[in-house]
Amino acid sequence: FNIIKVNHEEEFNETGAAIIAGLLQANPKAVLGLATGSTPIGVYKKLIERCQKGLLSFRQVTTYNLDEYVGLPKDHEQSYHRFMDEHLFRHVDINPLNTFIPDGNSGDPDQSAAYYNTLLEKSPFFDLQLLGIGHNGHIGFNEPGNELIGNTHVVTLHESTRAANARFFASSEDVPTHAITMGIGAILHAKQILLLVKGKEKSEVLRRAIYGPITPQCPASFLQVHPRVLILTDVEAGAFL
Ligand code: F6R
Repeated sequence: FNIIKVNHEEEFNETGAAIIAGLLQANPKAVLGLATGSTPIGVYKKLIERCQKGLLSFRQVTTYNLDEYVGLPKDHEQSYHRFMDEHLFRHVDINPLNTFIPDGNSGDPDQSAAYYNTLLEKSPFFDLQLLGIGHNGHIGFNEPGNELIGNTHVVTLHESTRAANARFFASSEDVPTHAITMGIGAILHAKQILLLVKGKEKSEVLRRAIYGPITPQCPASFLQVHPRVLILTDVEAGAFL
């Protein structure tokens, strides 16, 4: 692993944005795998700033998001469609036709997952996959368990994940029980992975992911088999690295 540990939020966001911007400058047609969650928001903000200053363009970029909840309309406040629109897409010059997110609201999530797989099969390898890590070691919504699935699939969210995400919903019962997620195989296909990790409460899981055994009990531990993973962390999350 390559590890960059930074002291401040500002430095974290600026570094993450610089890595992505550098990639897009070298390859304006880059294919990016994107994540939602609280961690990348500041990085997206910095990318928006660069784009609005004319320093960066998403015009020819293609993006694929990792995951989406099942059963939320696309314009629901907590859907990942809405998240991406609000935190990145609507502020930059990306062509909406080149942005892909699993459709969690088709009425047939298994079919949506299968369709997303056909899209991924047709796509060139991602130049960069952006990732966060869950408190329980999930990446995307690949939850800890006895096995991991390679392709895009429907998952039952763990109670711990639903609890962690309840802060965004009116009540904890409103958190969807299922999601569609890219599988671990597709994630590991990316040419390069940028893992963003912030905060003391992620330090132990980050340690396990990097130094612990490679096991489906900690899906992020599979990043150990990828040759090009860059971890961007603050001092709190990186305490044990
Ligand atoms: C989001 C995703 C999740 C998050 C993870 C961390 O698309 O796939 O794996 O990256 O749950 O979320 P935050 O950043 O909110 O701590």
